[in-house]
Amino acid sequence: MKRFAVPEISEGVYWVGIKDWNRRIFDALIPLPQGTTYNAYLVKGKEKTVLIDTVNPGFEKELGEKISQVTDLADLDYVVMNHAEPDHAGSISYIMKVSKGASLLTSEKGAKMAQLYHKIPEKRIRIVADKDIIELGGKTLQFIKAPWLHWPETMFTYLVDNKILFSCDFFGSHTASGFYDEDVEELIPFAKRYFGEIMMPFRSMGKKALEKVKELEIDIIAPSHGPIHKKPERILAAYRKWTAGETREKVIIVYVSMWNSVQAMTKTIIEILVSEGIEVNLYDLCTADIGDIARDLVDSRAIVLGTPTVLGGMHPLAIYGAYLVKVLRPPLKYGVVLSSYGWGGGAIRQAQEILGPTKIELVGTLDINGPPSTDDHKKIIEIGRQLSEKIRLSTK
Ligand code: FEO
Repeated sequence: MKRFAVPEISEGVYWVGIKDWNRRIFDALIPLPQGTTYNAYLVKGKEKTVLIDTVNPGFEKELGEKISQVTDLADLDYVVMNHAEPDHAGSISYIMKVSKGASLLTSEKGAKMAQLYHKIPEKRIRIVADKDIIELGGKTLQFIKAPWLHWPETMFTYLVDNKILFSCDFFGSHTASGFYDEDVEELIPFAKRYFGEIMMPFRSMGKKALEKVKELEIDIIAPSHGPIHKKPERILAAYRKWTAGETREKVIIVYVSMWNSVQAMTKTIIEILVSEGIEVNLYDLCTADIGDIARDLVDSRAIVLGTPTVLGGMHPLAIYGAYLVKVLRPPLKYGVVLSSYGWGGGAIRQAQEILGPTKIELVGTLDINGPPSTDDHKKIIEIGRQLSEKIRLSTK
């Protein structure tokens, strides 16, 4: 009985991945509202068979059964490791134990990681360099160096004959829903969220990778998370914008409020920004999904951070929010910090310390004692006007 669906996505190319519908957190950090997928692909040439990436630990047997529906699992020739992170490489050791003659194909840095993380003996690893090719018999694989997408060892694999780019994390989305791009109504929001969470800190490397793949004829982009792109131009166009750091007349507001004072301050700045025609997205850090914040950071031009002073500094959730902004390295140009204290300040100073190393220009800060007075609201309106003007005058 063939228990699993193993779709042939192109002649001789089979999807043998896993849909992890119930997973709700990734890297102990990123919420997964619709689960995720670990896409793995089996490519059958006339002489050689290759598995491109594997799946998260815990799904080894299911992966093995899927492969067995197409070919003899014990008889694979190669396993390609585009990326060493365990969601893709965590089943390599199982596959290579069963398929004793298989060699692992990976980058130079990948070879070290395969030994360290996945205990693959050095003698079973073959290092591939940029533009190296492997003949499978009627099919040719080409390897493309694409580091830091999302670890330093990452690479892409291109199946020349079928014009398929296997890009691993790049062009991915964390969702178990759908199979092809056309099946998922919210494809771009999911891809954008994923970009914000995983790829945004490496925008410059992403830009270089896009330049490299421009030389290829691509009919299908087959990433290792989320839907397969049968119409690659859509995701390519989105990635061109996101890697270039194109922003919109848009502000993301992230805040924490203990006794509603900071909330009242954010409400006032929202009123003025909206009236000036600026798009606003608001997140209360007590309840926000950080994936949504990451998605809106991809193209927001400015940020407003709202925090009370707690014990001489920012509220811990605001520290977390500001730190995320710093490490995700979004293309934000401008910022405002709004704060309220009970008996002594300190939050503004700490926000400046955290955001100081970023390229964000602080347009205004306001620290008030207790709830905002009429005069405080006037000051916030003035800061909001200045921020709107900066946003409108900025070109990108
Ligand atoms: Fe999907 Fe960086 O692993």
